[in-house]
Parts: sequence; structure tokens; C-alpha cells
Amino acid sequence: MTTARAIALFDQVAPVYDELLPFFTGFGQQHIEWLAPAHGTRALDLGAGRGALTAALLARGCQVTAVDCAPGMVERISTQYPQVHEARVMDAHQLDFPDNSFDLVCAGFVVHLLDDPAVAAREIRRVLTPGGVFSFSLPGAVEAAPEWEFYGALFREFQPLIPVGEGRLSRPLDEEQFLAAGRFTGVGAIAIEQRLPVPDADTFWNWGLSHGSRAFFDALPADARTRFEARVRAELATMDPIVFAAGAKLWRGASPA
Ligand SMILES: C[S@@+](CC[C@H](N)C(=O)[O-])C[C@H]1O[C@@H](n2cnc3c(N)ncnc32)[C@H](O)[C@@H]1O
Repeated sequence: MTTARAIALFDQVAPVYDELLPFFTGFGQQHIEWLAPAHGTRALDLGAGRGALTAALLARGCQVTAVDCAPGMVERISTQYPQVHEARVMDAHQLDFPDNSFDLVCAGFVVHLLDDPAVAAREIRRVLTPGGVFSFSLPGAVEAAPEWEFYGALFREFQPLIPVGEGRLSRPLDEEQFLAAGRFTGVGAIAIEQRLPVPDADTFWNWGLSHGSRAFFDALPADARTRFEARVRAELATMDPIVFAAGAKLWRGASPA
């Protein structure tokens, strides 16, 4: 099951997650700027990781509850953000909160990892107040960055070397169908992107091992992983400076009033 693999993987990377490049922090800030929640909003950060969304919500004066299936992530959120109302280990498919507990549920780069997104969508609607907002982000396209097309292409090229069922934790998701499963209305979406300065090739390679893509690298045969790394380093050697261009898509919908 994805959740068991997600727990193992995200516990493993929790100590360094989002510390090499502020990738999730940057997207988390843009995500919460887009939602612009009012001071005092009761917000649930679902699949909170190291707290990219939690930090941005706290900065706007929200009352933040953070949950994640990986205990290593939750421990670190509790330590780093003592202002959090509650930080708990929890599975998005089974939320241990009463109905109507939150005005806002947001999930950064999580919903494509779920075993059964429709079950989670119904749980999210249940814990939201009528009219409350659910918002999530997913990896997305980036404009005008042909020099980074090689990175996604390498994943596609090496994918056949990975046994079926191993490697990527993510699954294809039809976002509109997912929101419809929770009967969310007033659906909207925007594309966002960021350009992240990367100090050197080591930092970029180690960043790839510090988050979900680690599952892919760990599933590659050793010689293939060495070849993948060499190809990445060869591309980075042509860039001066190295500036990582990445895109994401933000989605939102409202719980039926
Ligand atoms: C890619 S990380 C994103 C973390 C954070 N939201 C961010 O934007 O940096 C995905 C997170 O979702 C968590 N996760 C995956 N499946 C989950 C589930 N079924 N229930 C709760 N958390 C889950 C992982 O443990 C991980 O911390």
C-alpha cells in the first residue's frame, strides 16, 4: 500500500526534507498567499511534511492543526512550530476529527500519493464547515525552461528499469473527479512556478534524495542509479549559474453550504 511506503520513505527523509533547497517552502508560501485566509481561520494542514503550509498559515494568524502519516515529520513540526494548535500522526483516509472542525483544509503535494483519493475527499468534506475551503497542490508544468526538460525525461527513460509496484509513490490523479468525489463546488485552479538558485551539483543531487523522488532512486538498480546521477551532473555542468525552474498547480473548491 502507498501509505505504508509513504510512511517509511517520508520518515527516512524527514531529517533533511526541504532543507537543501526551499522548494516546498516556496510553493507553500505561494499556496497560502493565493488562499489568503483570514486571521483566526481554523486550518488543517493535511500531509504537512515539515510544515511548508503550516508556517505560511501561522504567519497569517491562522489556528493550525498539522497531520501527517509519518511520525518523523510530525515530531519535527511539533518542535519547530510550538504555536501549532495540534500536530498529530494521522492518515488522510481516516481523519480523527469531529464533523465541521475546520474552515480550511489544505494539502501540499499530497493527494497524488493517496491510495484512495475519493475516500480522503469525503473525509475532508466531513471535517470542513459548510462553505469551508479545500485546496491542494500538485507538481505542474513550468514555462520557458527548456534546460530543465532533461530531468523529467530522465525519469521517463529510467522508469522501465524499476520493477512494477516499486519506485514512484505518486499516481495519476484526475483533479476534477477527485474534487467531485467530495462534492466540492466553485472549483478553481492556477499554475505557479519558482526559480531556485542551486549552489552546486551536489546540492541538487542530494535534494533529489531528500523528498519523494528518493523512492525512485532507491528502486533503481545500482548501476542505473550511477548512470542517472552522471547524466544529471553532466547537464548541470552546462549551467552557470544553476537555477532550478519548477512548476506546480494549485486547486481549490468549497464544501457545499
Ligand atoms: C511531498 S510531501 C509534502 C509535505 C508538505 N505538505 C509540503 O508541502 O512540503 C507529502 C507528505 O504527505 C504525507 N502523506 C502521504 N500519504 C499520506 C496519508 N495517507 N496521510 C497523511 N499524510 C500522508 C507524507 O508523509 C509527506 O510528509
